[in-house]
Amino acid sequence: MTKIRAAITGVGGYVPPYILTNEELSRMVDTSDEWIMERIGIKERRILLEEGKATSDMATEAVNQLLRKTGTKPEEVDMLICGVVTPDMQFPATANIICDKVGIKNAFGYDMNAGCSSFLFALITASKFVESGTHKKVVVVGADKMSSIVDYNDRNTSPIFGDGAGAVMLEPCIDGYGIIDSIMHVDGSGRHHLHQVAGGSLRPATFETILRRQHFIYQEGQPVFKAAVANMADVSVRMMERHNLTYENLKYFVPHQANMRIIEATAKRMGIDKKQVMLTITKYGNTTSATIPLCLWEYEHDLKPGDNIIIATFGAGFAWGSCYIKWAYDGSAVADNPDFDKK
Ligand code: UT7
Repeated sequence: MTKIRAAITGVGGYVPPYILTNEELSRMVDTSDEWIMERIGIKERRILLEEGKATSDMATEAVNQLLRKTGTKPEEVDMLICGVVTPDMQFPATANIICDKVGIKNAFGYDMNAGCSSFLFALITASKFVESGTHKKVVVVGADKMSSIVDYNDRNTSPIFGDGAGAVMLEPCIDGYGIIDSIMHVDGSGRHHLHQVAGGSLRPATFETILRRQHFIYQEGQPVFKAAVANMADVSVRMMERHNLTYENLKYFVPHQANMRIIEATAKRMGIDKKQVMLTITKYGNTTSATIPLCLWEYEHDLKPGDNIIIATFGAGFAWGSCYIKWAYDGSAVADNPDFDKK
């Protein structure tokens, strides 16, 4: 029997128009463009400034673009999973809110929180529904309004994060294209190094948690850095070995965009060239769940059927993984269409 794989058949994206530069950030906290570029590799990031707008609004823009690009009617979508760490509200799921705003009425869906690996975990979960034959048009979203949990008094975390959203369509494919393999891991002991202290059932919001600034991201950079380099490289190299992928036959490596030094160290261990690495970190920073779909969105024009791609992510949890994709369509045919201009 021919194996059904889940293939990405379209990509949509959205970044808010406001650009927070390193220069502007240097007037808010004690930092500099030189330090941020040298230690992280970020020049600027996008911020959703508009009052009353949330993660779901950026995701809605990305999904609407995805539906236009793939010629899909909202009622044809039968599932939507949203990878997110900054949901609009604790409940209901942001996936439900996106469906309502887009007009997706015949789908079920839910959120997935795996820190910066949320999109990859959502993608792999969604692929199983497609492979089983039960779902034919599945939208996978990665979206985060990181500015809602960043402390702009904290120079350790404020340079890193930005806002954005991306979305892909997954459909069944029997031609050998699509998601071929995945390796996924969690290690909950890593939770101590990267988390949001208050606002959950452990420490519900009080005046004290607010005064102590515990509703923002808490990160111990160095242990996270070390674990990210070791584990992202490990799952990426294992994936290459499992499928005889090399410098010669890998088209693109798509890493989570947390730190240029983590990306370069991982690429070095994989034995690949910098031009094989999708990079958006310099202009968008770390958009958490949105980094991977935004990379695919930016590089879609250069993707052809049969291209070998490895995605790898690492984030809070710790949660990390990699997946191997054989790209399924000619990206230049849609990405170069002026109707789908990037904002
Ligand atoms: O996406 C989720 C997963 N997250 C990650 O993958 C992040 C992993 N970690 C990192 O990327 C890095 O650890 C950071 C970018 C967070 C920090 O870079 P680092 O090279 O590890 O710096 P550090 O925390 O060791 O700090 C080195 C020095 C310190 O000064 P002293 O103690 O040496 O005098 C910091 O106070 O740099 C100082 N520093 C800064 N200086 C200027 C820290 N942040 C800044 C800043 N501007 N923004």
